[in-house]
Amino acid sequence: MLKQQIAPSMMCADYRTFADLLKTFEEQKIEYLHIDVMDGVFVKNYTLGTDFCRRLRDMTAIPLDIHLMITEPEWKIDWFAPRPGEYVSVHAEATDHLQRALAKIRDFGARPMAALNPATPLNVLDYVLDDIDAVLLMTVNPGFAGQKLIPQTLKKITDCREYLDTRGYSHVEIEVDGNVSFVNAEKMYAAGANIYVAGSSSVFCGEDIAANIGKLRMRIGG
Ligand code: DX5
Ligand code: ZN
Repeated sequence: MLKQQIAPSMMCADYRTFADLLKTFEEQKIEYLHIDVMDGVFVKNYTLGTDFCRRLRDMTAIPLDIHLMITEPEWKIDWFAPRPGEYVSVHAEATDHLQRALAKIRDFGARPMAALNPATPLNVLDYVLDDIDAVLLMTVNPGFAGQKLIPQTLKKITDCREYLDTRGYSHVEIEVDGNVSFVNAEKMYAAGANIYVAGSSSVFCGEDIAANIGKLRMRIGG
């Protein structure tokens, strides 16, 4: 049974109270901090980058979960200097060299994760199953916070869990990203997800971050 984990999406954070926010996350035993990196090419938006990751590591011991929404990530993984215990995800659609990118993350001693857009079939993972510790299933099209869940991605979570289990990869985790609201999280949990990117739809919805985390934990099995 994989552990149910929460990864707040730091692009949704209020920077005016950032130190307090990190303290709350530590008190609430948040498992990962999700960092969205967008290059304006793979997705049209720009967000967080290498300096943000470096500074965050100085401020907290919570491991990072770096989501690279950038083209040809294999050339830029070093810039993030991934650490053991951290996740780094690369999109299958963003490179012709998915295996190389995943192997590079492993070389740093970090945990490789393959990210898939909603329309990307699971079979792109067929020959990289030994190279991953997790699959990131986008439940919206990547690029912006505050979007609506694409309903057919719920079935994709179920299919992905079955795909991994039947091939002997029950240890590989499934992270979900996009409109992980309290209501949707419950459905994602039932479908087989176990890491939840919590953005404007849950943890950052309203003032009481600690209460939101508690509420989300209740929806994903306590
Ligand atoms: C994109 C981001 C967004 C977002 C998640 O990769 O991770 O999906 O911050 O939060 P929501 O969808 O709840 O705004
Ligand atoms: Zn993300």
